[in-house]
Amino acid sequence: MKSKRAIEEAIQTEAMQTKVAIITGANSGVGFGIAQRLLDYSSKTPSLCIRVVLACRNPTRASVAREALINEYPESLVDIVTVDLSSIDSVFKCCKEIKEKYDRIDLLFCNAGILSCEYLDWWNAIYLGFTSPISLLTESKIVAQPIGNKTIEGLGETFACNVFGHYVMVRQLEDLLSISGDARIIWTSSDACNKDYFNFADYQCIEGTNPYESSKYITDMIAIALNIRLNARHIYSFTTSPGVVATNIVGSHLGWVMDKFMKVGFTLGRICGLREETVTAWNGSYSNFIVATSPIECLNKLLKYHSRVKPWGTVYYEESSVDDYKEKEATSLLNQLDRLLDDFSKKI
Ligand SMILES: NC(=O)c1ccc[n+]([C@@H]2O[C@H](COP(=O)([O-])OP(=O)(O)OC[C@H]3O[C@@H](n4cnc5c(N)ncnc54)[C@H](OP(=O)(O)O)[C@@H]3O)[C@@H](O)[C@H]2O)c1
Repeated sequence: MKSKRAIEEAIQTEAMQTKVAIITGANSGVGFGIAQRLLDYSSKTPSLCIRVVLACRNPTRASVAREALINEYPESLVDIVTVDLSSIDSVFKCCKEIKEKYDRIDLLFCNAGILSCEYLDWWNAIYLGFTSPISLLTESKIVAQPIGNKTIEGLGETFACNVFGHYVMVRQLEDLLSISGDARIIWTSSDACNKDYFNFADYQCIEGTNPYESSKYITDMIAIALNIRLNARHIYSFTTSPGVVATNIVGSHLGWVMDKFMKVGFTLGRICGLREETVTAWNGSYSNFIVATSPIECLNKLLKYHSRVKPWGTVYYEESSVDDYKEKEATSLLNQLDRLLDDFSKKI
């Protein structure tokens, strides 16, 4: 374990490489797992110090998470910035704060996300329990998502939190990312991304039925397409999936008892060989960690990196191609997001 004093001295004498990692939604679930993994790695790597920045919407929850991380890794550097990704105004303010505080960014984890729930479809849960227990355990089919939810700024709510708020961050922080020389933007996508729910004419999925799946489809598209623009500046963009993790994203809709049932169900699924049932945030964050720490020449920016787990709990990662990726469509999407960003830049 490195002491804080030794770290500061080493940073001053430039004997230690310092990296800045920003993680959105780091106060819980997969984001918290990413923070733990980075601090663990940093504490075990003598020549490296990773400063972890928790970018969270709720300062109290962020402070609790920071305390837990410092308790686990006492000599670590953990900061907090506040951002509500559903408000582009808040994203602009957060990026301004980041630019004032840090002189480089090495890792930007676009991780925060929501899966809004209008009601839980228990009849479908029972039906799937008999007909397709695997899809019950691996997909969020019992969550009936609301249609038409918008943010106060008029954006599709899920699109704003899961995609556009992050895209604005990327665009605002591009210059700081380019200083690193090997910066990574890592998008937490999902196994549940689905082109069938995406409609270019309603890309914010305001009228559509499954805004979550649509947002994750867009995530994959733009995560890959950003490489066309950013690689020349030595910024690399990747998409990952944590598998199925028992976190608040579904748990908060279930209530205490069903949340415990969910965890047991996921664990049983894992023991029965469902390799996507990573269950814990530590396991789920593995693919993000691999993409953050592997040499760039060992990674393929056209692939998606999934966390997977063996029945007895050993975590590993798997690569898959993003079948629906079409460069032309993905570039049109980026252009569309740019136009939207221009509108906000003029307004704010
Ligand atoms: N769990 C899974 O099985 C699973 C599967 C596939 C993909 N994912 C993806 O993994 C990512 C993390 O989710 P999770 O499972 O770890 O769920 P989680 O525990 O609910 O974490 C979500 C995080 O996002 C934050 N967040 C939500 N809305 C936000 C906003 N408007 N502004 C800023 N932060 C916001 C939450 O903050 P609060 O604590 O303040 O709400 C929380 O920190 C998401 O992108 C999700 O889609 C999860």
